[in-house]
Amino acid sequence: MPITIVNHPLVQHKLGLLREADISTYKFRTLTHELARLLAYEATRDFELEPVTIDGWCGDINVQRIKGKKVTVVPILRAGLGMLDGVLDLVPSAKISVVGLYRNEETLEPVPYFDKFVDSLDERIALIIDPMLATGGSMIATIDLLKRKGCQSIKAIVMVAAPEGVKAVSDAHPDVEIVTAALDSHLNEHGYIIPGLGDAGDKIFGTK
Ligand code: PRP
Ligand code: URA
Repeated sequence: MPITIVNHPLVQHKLGLLREADISTYKFRTLTHELARLLAYEATRDFELEPVTIDGWCGDINVQRIKGKKVTVVPILRAGLGMLDGVLDLVPSAKISVVGLYRNEETLEPVPYFDKFVDSLDERIALIIDPMLATGGSMIATIDLLKRKGCQSIKAIVMVAAPEGVKAVSDAHPDVEIVTAALDSHLNEHGYIIPGLGDAGDKIFGTK
């Protein structure tokens, strides 16, 4: 099962701060940004390089560049937007594809309401971002959409994952690596991750 749990001290420290019950919207949003940046660093660790020759200050020099077309970052609306700028800090020229889904609170099924993809997905690596991987329904639906558009290289970056969601995604899409700061205990009867973070979208946007 391709899951990477990022145990870097900064990641675990920031995750601990995010779990505080009375955290402010500002602090949750800021930490989400910072954590996304650190997780993106890990998620891009195996990007392929190619040698290029450039005109250096003392003549031609061989350097390394990331191979292929620009990455597409895919935030799942709404909460994924909270991670977008953190990822773009590291891959500023990435193209952005957007998927709008919300979970039906009773069935926990993802309900699609919007999508807009960049071109040439068959030639790009897609980094899907969403703070929470709970049942996995939203992530699987997003991967399905990307694959239908021809995308062949997909990673999922989440802040907290539940074992149930990791299993569902791995069963449906064993080729997709999940990069996360934590693999938590389980889902409660409402489909919330325990201990989790609560409702990440509400905490990022200040809604209730
Ligand atoms: C949350 C979260 C994921 C989804 C995870 O979004 O940001 O997208 O639930 O749950 P799942 O793994 O069971 O599908 P939500 O539907 O609350 O929408 P929001 O981002 O608009 O708040
Ligand atoms: N969505 C969230 O925001 N939190 C959860 O724990 C599960 C789904």
